[in-house]
Amino acid sequence: METTLIILKPDAVQRGLMGRIIARFEDKGLQIVGCKMMTISSQLAATHYSAHKGKPFYDGLVNFMTSSPVLVMALRGVGAIDMSRKMMGATFGSKAEPGTIRGDFGVSNSFNLIHGSDSPEAAAREMELFFKDGEVQQMDRAIESWVYDMSGGDPE
Ligand code: RTP
Ligand code: MG
Repeated sequence: METTLIILKPDAVQRGLMGRIIARFEDKGLQIVGCKMMTISSQLAATHYSAHKGKPFYDGLVNFMTSSPVLVMALRGVGAIDMSRKMMGATFGSKAEPGTIRGDFGVSNSFNLIHGSDSPEAAAREMELFFKDGEVQQMDRAIESWVYDMSGGDPE
C-alpha cells in the first residue's frame, strides 16, 4: 500500500470543484486517510516546491499556492502514487487529455487545479511536510475485500 499527497490548489477550491475531484478518487477505490483545508505559508510552499527554485515559473507558483486556501489529502491504495498522477493528467491544462482531472476541468497551464506526489520519495517527504502525527488515519475499510481481490492474501 502507498500513501500519496494530493493538494487541491487554490483554483480548485475557489471554483467549487473539490467535491467532483474528490469523488473521482473515491470512485476509483483510493482511500482518503487524511483531509484538511489550510492556507499554505510562503515558507511551506518554498519547501514543497524547492526542486523548482530558480526556474522562471517559481515565484508565480509560490504566489499562486499561497493566494487562497487549499485542500490537502492523503490517498492510500496499491500503486496510489502513479495512479493519482495518471488521473491528474499532464501538467498543463491546455495539454492534459480529456478524462483526466486537469484535462476535464481546466484550460490554464499554471492554474492547473491539483498537485500529486511524483515518486515514493516525494510522497514520504510531502506527507511529512503537510500532515502531523495523528492527522492520518489508520482505518480498516469495510468494503476492502470488494475493492481488492484478497484471495491470494495480498490486495490485488
Ligand atoms: P505538481 O508538482 O503541482 O503536481 O505539478 P507537476 O508535477 O505536474 O509539474 P511540475 O513540473 O512539478 O511543476 C510544478 C508546478 O509548476 C507550474 N509550472 N509552470 N510555466 C511553466 O513552464 C510551468 N511549469 C510548471 C505548474 O503549476 C506545475 O503544476
Ligand atoms: Mg511536481
